[in-house]
Amino acid sequence: MPKSDSPSPAAVPRVALLVSGRGSNLEAIARAAAGQSWPACLALVLAHREDIPAVRRARELGLPVRILPLNPAIDRPAQDAQISQCLEEAAIDWIVLAGYMRILSPAFVRRHAGRVVNIHPSLLPAFPGLHTHRRALAAGVKLHGATVHLVDEALDAGPILGQAAVPVLPDDDEARLAGRVLQAEHRLYPPVLRALIEGRLRVCGQRARWVGASAAADPLLLWVPVA
Ligand code: GRF
Repeated sequence: MPKSDSPSPAAVPRVALLVSGRGSNLEAIARAAAGQSWPACLALVLAHREDIPAVRRARELGLPVRILPLNPAIDRPAQDAQISQCLEEAAIDWIVLAGYMRILSPAFVRRHAGRVVNIHPSLLPAFPGLHTHRRALAAGVKLHGATVHLVDEALDAGPILGQAAVPVLPDDDEARLAGRVLQAEHRLYPPVLRALIEGRLRVCGQRARWVGASAAADPLLLWVPVA
């Protein structure tokens, strides 16, 4: 039989979603990934407990779930080494934090440098950490939003890949503002991930740049919903 000269097909990048809570961003990503020509395979949903809404959602969506209970008798770097092993066994290329509430150790971040992505509910570098909506209201900002960024060793401070801005309205309370930002998160996370995986978003130092024809007009740089 003659040998084919055609190159073997490129491997499809494999994504793991790490979750600890509600799972609405997981669902947004899974729905985008079920659409046409998504460039990656959602190969794993990793959680540390079965009894969280994100795991229920993942199972309903037919995603492969692995529950890796954390051993409280070992320190964080050792726990994270177990997570790394699990990810490496599944041949994961991209690690996507979707409401993952543990802080990953510096050793984990170095081991997977440039391949760990997070979404944070503020326009970083404003309001890193917790209670972002409450703090945004207290500060009186007029624009708030969400940021998708690469994870580095500092808290909520890695290179910014995309941001979605929403207005803060005069009668907002924390819940209303949180709901508006969450809707923006669901619009923002899937396309930013997609661009990153497809190589249309490249990171150089602290700055991410869109490459290709549409870079100058890319709507993900700022998205303000009107309603
Ligand atoms: C989101 O607000 C996200 O920005 C933050 O945690 C929350 C997770 O929500 N990191 P969900 O679990 O995706 O619904």
